[in-house]
Amino acid sequence: MPTATPDLLDEVGRRRTFAIISHPDAGKTTLTEKFLLFAGALHEAGAVKSRKQARTATSDWMALEKERGISISSTVLHFAYGPWRFNLLDTPGHADFSEDTYRTLWAADAAVMVLDAAKGLEPQTLKLFKVCRDRGIPIVTFVNKVDRPALAPLELLDQIAGQIGLDPVPVTWPVGDGGDFAGIVDRQAGELIRYDRTAHGSTIGDEERIPLEKAAEAGAEAIGCPADRFAQALEELELLDLDRPDVDGEAVLDGRQTPVFFGSALGNFGVRRLLEGFAELAPAPGPQTIVEPEDGDRPIEAPFSALVFKVQANMNPRHRDRVAFLRVQSGTFDRGMSATLARTGRPFALKYAHQLFASERETVEQAVAGDIVGVVGATGLQVGDSLYAEDRVVFPAIPTFSPERFARVRNRDSGRFKQFRTGLAQLDEEGVVHVLRHPELGDQELILAGVGQLQFEVTQHRMAEEFGCEISLEPAPFELARRIDAADEPKVRGQRGTSVFQDRHGTTLVLFRNAFALQWAQQDLPDVPFHELGISRS
Ligand code: G4P
Repeated sequence: MPTATPDLLDEVGRRRTFAIISHPDAGKTTLTEKFLLFAGALHEAGAVKSRKQARTATSDWMALEKERGISISSTVLHFAYGPWRFNLLDTPGHADFSEDTYRTLWAADAAVMVLDAAKGLEPQTLKLFKVCRDRGIPIVTFVNKVDRPALAPLELLDQIAGQIGLDPVPVTWPVGDGGDFAGIVDRQAGELIRYDRTAHGSTIGDEERIPLEKAAEAGAEAIGCPADRFAQALEELELLDLDRPDVDGEAVLDGRQTPVFFGSALGNFGVRRLLEGFAELAPAPGPQTIVEPEDGDRPIEAPFSALVFKVQANMNPRHRDRVAFLRVQSGTFDRGMSATLARTGRPFALKYAHQLFASERETVEQAVAGDIVGVVGATGLQVGDSLYAEDRVVFPAIPTFSPERFARVRNRDSGRFKQFRTGLAQLDEEGVVHVLRHPELGDQELILAGVGQLQFEVTQHRMAEEFGCEISLEPAPFELARRIDAADEPKVRGQRGTSVFQDRHGTTLVLFRNAFALQWAQQDLPDVPFHELGISRS
């Protein structure tokens, strides 16, 4: 029975579920803050940052973030602006990539890519961009910090086109930069939005818009910009009009074009235009791929279904709880409803569901497709789990990265064997790291596998802080992993440069010392298929 009502479709149509991707320090936190300010969700900018600090001060786990000055965990922020309801997935901003970021992006329908105008595309942006491209989600670009000396805007466009292969189409265009920055031109409206250096960007403030023709008549001095910079901007705008027509909504959705906005998050400038432009160009949640009852799409108006894309324990050290983040994929979520967990076929009560706003938790009464709900005390839910009301439906597994780093893990305190086991099992389930067991030696020979060193550090830290168990890690001599069918295990055993392990699902994995060892195995054992484990990061 479809649960669709015109109201449901209208509600879903207002949703924009997105992530902000950037290199650390490009201004993601500042931009987030300004979005919330526009939404009236914050009265004064600064709250997101103070949330960052408050978190690090109160949580043991976050102590690691504080020590390293990075943000490891990610949360979801909900805010409204105009007719739209935004779900902002906060991806960790540290330079070391982790699988957590990938899973978070999995739940997003679009991304805002923030670039530092002085630095252009940086390595972390490129990596995250690749994940977005693999997901096929549209990207809107914000060139931040134009109030500081910046690269030439045309050069920034060339970088985007050359390095990531997207066709950049400027929606706004800067007039000057650094001390000469006079404002941005809204190309569609043909208006100059004046930059007001005296406003500090902590409140919304009014924008002064002047038709571009009038600004040109008034001259550079009137807008507070050296004559050559203004002339240059006008020339560039003419070129753009010839060269780059308007944004094509279809091309954005297909991932061929990226609309580009310029501004200063700190100065709260260009942010409103970005938010409105993003809302218009980014897609509302749509049908999602399913693999059961058969391959196809799940329409948003079908009965309730959801996908667990992230599980995070001990977010609040006072409660030591475990929160599973669900993305509602179809229908309506109502607090207290019962759904079926596809993996077990058993009912699962969704009693303690919350939406997170900054550090506050708000109880959710209702949520629709595209919304993210945090289920507190979610023992039993794992990343990749499907939940549904009525008829069974299963979403495809969230692809993982093929592990590239391996470490042998040992318990340094043999008296805490139970904590060692429980802790590792928990972190494995959360997806912090993969725990691989030797088929015969079991817990005597455990390997941790991941894509970033940070995953190992987080494991070590959380084992000590949350489970009171000190572990030691030493590099394990492997560089690659492949999956084989269990029946092939005896054939592979003893093969040079390899070791065989199992993951928590009982899947048989072969770890290789290097690419040569994989080649040898493929030559020596031509009848054994070595399957790739996940997508490659590079
Ligand atoms: P991140 O989350 O991407 O890591 O970046 P974040 O927003 O924390 O910004 C990094 C630094 O860049 C901060 O300075 C921030 O104030 C500054 N910044 C962000 N947007 C702009 C902008 O549009 N113009 C200018 N000039 N600076 C900007 P900080 O000194 O590291 O931190 P704080 O002491 O200001 O908090």
